Amino acid sequence: MTIETPHGALRRPAELARTIDVSGLVDAEGGLVDRVIFTDQEIYRQELRRVFAPSWLFLAHADQFHKPGDFFTTYMGEDPVIVTLDRNRRVRAYLNSCRHRGARVCRADYGATRNFTCTYHGWSFDLEGKLVSVPNKAGYPESFDTREWGLVEVPHIDSHRGLIFGTWNPDPVPLRESLGDMAWYMDAMLDHDDEGTVVVGGVHKWVLEGNWKLAAEQFATDWYHVNMSHASALMVLSPTGKGPKDEIVHRTGRQYGSPNGHGAGFPVHPKNRFDAKTVHQWTDYAALRERLGEARVEGPLTNGHATVFPNFSYLPVNGSIRVWHPKGPDRMEVWAWTIVDRSMPPEVREAQRLYNLRTFGPSGIFEQDDGENWSEVQAVAHGFVTNSVPLNYQMGLGSERDDGRHPGQTSELYSDAAGRAFYARWRELMTTPAWHEEGK
Ligand code: FES
Ligand SMILES: [Fe+2]
Repeated sequence: MTIETPHGALRRPAELARTIDVSGLVDAEGGLVDRVIFTDQEIYRQELRRVFAPSWLFLAHADQFHKPGDFFTTYMGEDPVIVTLDRNRRVRAYLNSCRHRGARVCRADYGATRNFTCTYHGWSFDLEGKLVSVPNKAGYPESFDTREWGLVEVPHIDSHRGLIFGTWNPDPVPLRESLGDMAWYMDAMLDHDDEGTVVVGGVHKWVLEGNWKLAAEQFATDWYHVNMSHASALMVLSPTGKGPKDEIVHRTGRQYGSPNGHGAGFPVHPKNRFDAKTVHQWTDYAALRERLGEARVEGPLTNGHATVFPNFSYLPVNGSIRVWHPKGPDRMEVWAWTIVDRSMPPEVREAQRLYNLRTFGPSGIFEQDDGENWSEVQAVAHGFVTNSVPLNYQMGLGSERDDGRHPGQTSELYSDAAGRAFYARWRELMTTPAWHEEGK
């Protein structure tokens, strides 16, 4: 990646970006994955360069910004970024790293400001990312031009129904095109009426000892674990208290897998409904059928799971949206928001918030089970022999088809189809030189 350095040229040796040929580590067609992709430090570094840097990454929800200077700090891969509204109310995002010695220029999680002032030596940047104040500026040579030392800006920001994404790629495929058919599935959660969605509460953040892909692929492809991993949680939700609800355990449904690596799975049932009683009672299912069509209301509107490649996932029945921030091969940081329809009255919003908190909050009865699984897989993955034994992603192999009801290629509810699509996309990006590489 080239950042202009006006005085004194720097040149990185190519060895610093040594590339590993990962094509033999993922057999998406045969449904096999080599465990080393979850444990190897160099593969992880290559993911940051080739998967995260070129992809559209989720940054924030539009409802987090109302006035110029409102900001939210997050990460793109491991790169810290500030998302803010500039003086013209345009969403901008900057690398949250001072051009002087590299400290973060904003250390707050969110807030409102007129300037981002670095607490190390005091360089200060305005909402447009310009360097506007330098203590002891007279000490610099005459050639020092503050215009050349502004914050590094994320070149492309775009949004889909309130979800703001950014990419470092200077020439990206437009966001909507990159989502493709996935937008149809996402809109089942985001487009219930003209008013869209808002965020309730803050952002929950917690750390899990597992590779980020374990969570991302599960949300793309895995309804399979529900009956076993969540057996006790399902029992709690059972009306009789005696056992998991039959209609959950034995459900049939579909799973969508995108050539761009996205995935969504959902039971299909004419009585799909929101689990929180207050939300269910408030919901006008007839209006939703009118707006979104039968296929979406009976499918991905409520129950289900989804991942927008690479690391943004959501659960429509909970209104949970989350990012799996990579923190090295063995660790991820989960950041989770609760979103609701803006049209929901306060008591319905509160019911949805509490339902999400109890099920998929950091200590939610389902969330606890999932995190435990990922940490378990990661905990043993470094053993030499363990690491050499491939993993199985063969369920539903060859079952992908156009089902005539849901866009794109779908498979069964219980399938690894979207997982195979996720890793096919991962392999594609990992084996394709990105724009910032030598010779590109
Ligand atoms: S590191 Fe920011 S002012 Fe020195
Ligand atoms: Fe789960």
